[in-house]
Amino acid sequence: MSEALVWRESYATGVGLLDDQHRELVRLINRLLDPGDDIAVGARLDTLLAHLRRHFETENVFLRAIDYPLAEEHIREHTMQLAELIDLRRTVARAAQGLSADDRAAIRHWFFNHVVAEDRRFGAYYRRVICGAAE
Ligand SMILES: [Fe+2]
Ligand SMILES: [Fe+2]
Repeated sequence: MSEALVWRESYATGVGLLDDQHRELVRLINRLLDPGDDIAVGARLDTLLAHLRRHFETENVFLRAIDYPLAEEHIREHTMQLAELIDLRRTVARAAQGLSADDRAAIRHWFFNHVVAEDRRFGAYYRRVICGAAE
């Protein structure tokens, strides 16, 4: 069974720049989860981390700018997620091996729980409160 994530437009927040970054995130996660090439895992994790740092910075500024009520909680989540990925990066470097099945499952789980579920919540707030769109 393919592990690859598929971007769906129903995942979109409605914020163009953030959705573009989320699409790129899907591409980078899929490269990371590609089982054919364990040797490249460290470099792929570095690329993913660099993208996520930029993405979280952009999203954090946006959440504060729109006065999202859950902004600080959401920003704390980002900080924890980065710390976990940095931890995983260290483990991979130390063990000089690829990702375990648990690591892979955790990354997919994080994508669906955070990007798809939590980011969509602020997307709904943005469209309703800031844009005045009817849901
Ligand atoms: Fe996001
Ligand atoms: Fe987020």
